Amino acid sequence: MNILVIGGGGREHAIIRKLKEDPRAETIYALPGNGGIAAGAVCGGVGACDIPGMVDFAKAHAVDFVVVAPDDPLVLGAVDAFTAAGFPCFGPRKDAAAIEGSKVFAKELMKKYHIPTAAYEVFSDLAAALDYVEHCPLPTVVKADGLALGKGVLICETREAAREAVRSMMEGRIFGESGARVVIEEFLTGPEVSVLSFTDGETVVPMVSSMDHKRALDGDQGLNTGGMGTVAPNPYYTPEIAAACMEAIFLPTIQAMRAEGRPFQGCLYFGLMLTADGPKVIEYNCRFGDPETQVVLPLLEGSLLEIMLAVSEGRLADTAVRFSGKSACCVILASQGYPQTYEKGFPISLPETGADEHIYIAGAAEKDGRLVTSGGRVLGATAVADTLPAAIERAYALAGRIHFDNAYCRRDIGQRALQAMKEGA
Ligand code: AMP
Ligand code: GLY
Repeated sequence: MNILVIGGGGREHAIIRKLKEDPRAETIYALPGNGGIAAGAVCGGVGACDIPGMVDFAKAHAVDFVVVAPDDPLVLGAVDAFTAAGFPCFGPRKDAAAIEGSKVFAKELMKKYHIPTAAYEVFSDLAAALDYVEHCPLPTVVKADGLALGKGVLICETREAAREAVRSMMEGRIFGESGARVVIEEFLTGPEVSVLSFTDGETVVPMVSSMDHKRALDGDQGLNTGGMGTVAPNPYYTPEIAAACMEAIFLPTIQAMRAEGRPFQGCLYFGLMLTADGPKVIEYNCRFGDPETQVVLPLLEGSLLEIMLAVSEGRLADTAVRFSGKSACCVILASQGYPQTYEKGFPISLPETGADEHIYIAGAAEKDGRLVTSGGRVLGATAVADTLPAAIERAYALAGRIHFDNAYCRRDIGQRALQAMKEGA
């Protein structure tokens, strides 16, 4: 089977590695892929948002199955285009991808179907939004409606900050058209949990839970990033909480999407906050999380390809999805300066890896036969072990064997999870 994976980051590298474990996988293509992915997949020179270009590529390369991983092509309708051209796909159609593509859609869905989330108001009028933030409780959270490279959420401690957030989105359009409408919502507190799930629109099967570390610096300081590291499972996510989420959030969401005539097929990501009032949805993503995927997929037993085929053919209920029961930690090595400006082009030296070690390349290119840095998040060093403390130790040991100039990583990935385990004990 020839498989085409759309995307070119660490998440896609992890997906491709896992797909390759299935003997049915023949050639794997990646669009656009990256210099590290090129070691195990054929990377083409077509961008992930060039939908006609990608469809032409699939036709020219006798592709049998397509996996669309990133949010932008999903929200733009890549799955609809591949399906119309006769290619079976893993990923939601455009109308279902709106669950991430429009925060207003997601919030209204949750309100209509009584799915727990932060209380909110929607504004498309600047004056009304400015008026609202004069009186709303503080802190408050201002969110651009559309995709904004993960940056469209501003937590405002003061009225001045809230006014500035509203103005910059609605008037200054710092996130472009994504800020034409904003959601202003209640500030919630509690531990955050990421739960990725497989769903074919009828059945939903949660994967092992995980914890992201979004801030750039140790102790959750510094700017928000795409994610500086992950651990799985997330110790805050107990079996009781998992059962409550299945009943109050996961199943109702799948049913709601079906009831709206937008059945969701693919990976639905639930970003949850465990508040004093129970678990609430902070965000939905219509795709695998990055870097959550880099700890979740190494713990998946059996064939990812088989699960993805089952999702696309609507037979997930009859398909086994098993996780190993071990733990994983992923430490992101980034370029100094990320998420703002950083230098690129430094040669990367990679060590040999053992069976429970994985290096997933995100921002690297091949130059004169060498791998060099080309992005903010350069790679993820993942280790799997029987316990979380051992996985964390091994991931840092692996990261220590990787070298490139200008590298930095957080030193405390997993520490909050270890603290939670101690407190729970
Ligand atoms: P998002 O871009 O939706 O992932 O949001 C980024 C981060 O903002 C989340 O991971 C949360 O830490 C935080 N956040 C979003 N919404 C809220 C909220 N209503 N209350 C508190 N924190 C929030
Ligand atoms: N790690 C968060 C995300 O993928 O959106």
